[in-house]
Amino acid sequence: MPAIIVVGAQWGDEGKGKLVDYYAEKADMVVRYQGGNNAGHTVVVGDQKFAFHLMPSGAIQGKKVLIGNGVIINPKVLLEEIENLREHNIEPDLVISPHAHVIMPYHPIIDAEQENVRSGGAVGTTGRGIGPTYADKATRFGIRMEDLASHEDFRKKLDLNLKIHGKTLRFVYEFDIEGKDELSHEDYLCSIGLDLEKIFREYCGYGRKLGKYLGNVDKVLNNALDEHKLVLFEGAQGTHLDIDFGTYPNVTSSNATAGGACTGTGVGPTRMDKVIGVSKAYTTRVGGGPFPTELNEEIGKRIREVGHEFGTTTGRPRRCGWFDAEVVRYARLVNHLDTLAIMKLDVLDGLETVKICTRYEEGKPIYEEMPGWQTPKGGWDAVVKTGYDAFPANAKKYLERISELCHTPIEMVSVGPERSQTVLLSRPQLEQIV
Ligand code: IMP
Repeated sequence: MPAIIVVGAQWGDEGKGKLVDYYAEKADMVVRYQGGNNAGHTVVVGDQKFAFHLMPSGAIQGKKVLIGNGVIINPKVLLEEIENLREHNIEPDLVISPHAHVIMPYHPIIDAEQENVRSGGAVGTTGRGIGPTYADKATRFGIRMEDLASHEDFRKKLDLNLKIHGKTLRFVYEFDIEGKDELSHEDYLCSIGLDLEKIFREYCGYGRKLGKYLGNVDKVLNNALDEHKLVLFEGAQGTHLDIDFGTYPNVTSSNATAGGACTGTGVGPTRMDKVIGVSKAYTTRVGGGPFPTELNEEIGKRIREVGHEFGTTTGRPRRCGWFDAEVVRYARLVNHLDTLAIMKLDVLDGLETVKICTRYEEGKPIYEEMPGWQTPKGGWDAVVKTGYDAFPANAKKYLERISELCHTPIEMVSVGPERSQTVLLSRPQLEQIV
């Protein structure tokens, strides 16, 4: 059973990067299928900390990593990540779909302007131009990775995009127009940093550097699966940020759910063998939108501090709250989760009691309160060596209740950022998991 999808079961930042990095050791390939550099995956290896936004997590392990057609790429960010790996003597074995769309310099500007005019208040986007890039893809004005290599066509597409988006910025959003009445349209564009020639040269340069990585992600993956290789499909963001199943409009602009793994890579649904839902032992959310179990008092602050709950991409403090079984149950439904991985359990150490939202009544969360637990004597590192049996009794009860409420077995518990701070439950070998 070699095709495993890893999805976020909450609002993103669940720790998918750590889980994928952990399993990547046994995998042959890791592929990203949606999102862009709005995502942020932190992986800690010994005293080295890697923060990736685009690069699939298995890259550090020297695995073949792929970026599917469903991903949108900021080429500058991707090149920086390639460079970062090289500085650590890792040459990424990377394949990028030529059909992946490119985030262009006008997209973040439009993203910011759209945030300013939204009637229901800002979404609280990461400001990386994600929505406008996917919008261009849908309206068929988008620029794809393959376009960066065919210069004449690229120039024409860029010119058209600058005309359309430039006019929208100038006349609809009235972006930075003060004292610019007399400027020609080209001069206005230059004044806001959107000079056709400059962008053209810069992006042709990116195209040259990244050209060697372009390849048929769909064929590579399907061939690998024919050969029974193990492929991890690494989701970004989470189920409740999915454009269709999330808390719209406070969502991202792609399908972060398991279905996105098919449309974002070219691997059919009947080839998928397993879906792992990743959830924290509590809940976090960045940006606006509903969050029924949010904690605004001391405990919320404490979780934020102990869990270092600040965005990898934007540094924004994350909103923190109790575990919400309703949220994860819905993730189970729309992703057909086979198992759960519960991350950051250690962050709840030392609380007198912990709460789980079991369901809602008239829109209000109904909680079950359980006794808390202390950090085990000798720390979690000692416990991890022995395994799940050595967990504090109340922590086990908490995990078992989560599993019961979400109707899903837990296969992994993480108790710290390091690879070693991970415990596999009941299925000690990856072979048994897949
Ligand atoms: P966008 O993806 O930048 O358009 O942002 C839309 C919403 O998704 C905002 O609420 C962001 O905070 C949230 N978001 C996007 N990417 C991530 C992520 O990787 N983790 C958590 N939240 C995210």
